[in-house]
Amino acid sequence: MTKRILLFGLILATLISCKNQEKTQSFKPGELWTDNNGVHINAHGGGILYDNGVYYWYGEHKTEGKNGNYANVGVHCYSSSDLYNWKDEGIALGVDSINSGSDIEKGCILERPKVIKNEKTGKYIMWFHLEPKGKGYFGALSGIAISDNATGPYKYIKAVRPNAGHWPVNVLDIHKGEIRSEGLEFSGGSLPGDVDSLNILGRDMQGGQMARDMTLFVDDDGKGYHIYSSEENSTLHIAELSDDYLSHSGKYGRFFPGRFMEAPAMFKKDNKYYLMMSGCTGWSPNEARSAVAESIWGPWTELGDPCIDHIDKKTFFSQSTYILPVQGKDNQFIYMGDRWTPKNAIDGRYVWLPIEFEGDRFIIRWHDEWSLNK
Ligand code: DGJ
Repeated sequence: MTKRILLFGLILATLISCKNQEKTQSFKPGELWTDNNGVHINAHGGGILYDNGVYYWYGEHKTEGKNGNYANVGVHCYSSSDLYNWKDEGIALGVDSINSGSDIEKGCILERPKVIKNEKTGKYIMWFHLEPKGKGYFGALSGIAISDNATGPYKYIKAVRPNAGHWPVNVLDIHKGEIRSEGLEFSGGSLPGDVDSLNILGRDMQGGQMARDMTLFVDDDGKGYHIYSSEENSTLHIAELSDDYLSHSGKYGRFFPGRFMEAPAMFKKDNKYYLMMSGCTGWSPNEARSAVAESIWGPWTELGDPCIDHIDKKTFFSQSTYILPVQGKDNQFIYMGDRWTPKNAIDGRYVWLPIEFEGDRFIIRWHDEWSLNK
């Protein structure tokens, strides 16, 4: 009898392990996406680094329930050579223990982590949106961490408000004038008046600019950029990083004032810069935006909603987080979006779709299932 139980156990274990090793050859947007252990990938609001033939996917590790939207664990990392099959590399940046008083204490808000590699120093640099524990979304800070290895562990360095003491390259006279102290707070995608005359930029000039939803972008010349929703989410800032990517250089520009864009994702094709963003509706999806520019410093021209052939106009029930250039494939880019499930954060899904080009704009179409061009 014992022998039979043992044999049955062995067969079951072999079957489970074979199942876990089945290779996926396609993307199925919005469906459960399991890693090498058969567990749904836990890397939300994420981004991808390609390094030495391997893709690394970093994102927010969510936990169960509504509280799972807070950072209870940290930033999760996965690796892949084909973009379909992902190996769990564990927690790249862990949060600190409760009541430790650390900036990244368990229960803080740590969102949209992105990692870039600095070719000069050989270090891997992570930036993320950080809100200290128990203070809502008012901190609007940018956290920075560093590692010698792509998969970590990353060491938290500091959190900042970008570009304290610096005016943007396209500052207006009005910003150097009167500063109001009241009635400037963001309330659900609008402000009580025109963003330039409210002068949130001037208000935050000395202490540093607000930075919430964010991404990183490295240009062909190795310059790094931090792109974030600023000025109470009303305006997008594009800020140059220092040579070591650990701080801002002080050069930055403000774009789309008063357009309330979140979830920025940037890519470059044929010497043109493209941006995809969302509107501001919390965890609920909304209609995406896109824009193009010949210089990262603008002028930026809005191109409208890139998502076509869909009636819902809600970005296929997702929100942008990153646009990934596929290595070794000319002009193949992947839209990476999050389908948030705020009531049970861990169940959030990923919507990855191919980017197509139509004239000067890019477009995204729905596919139940698709694969990369061979
Ligand atoms: C929308 C942002 O894009 C997310 O990253 C997150 O901050 C939610 N808002 C919170 O409501």
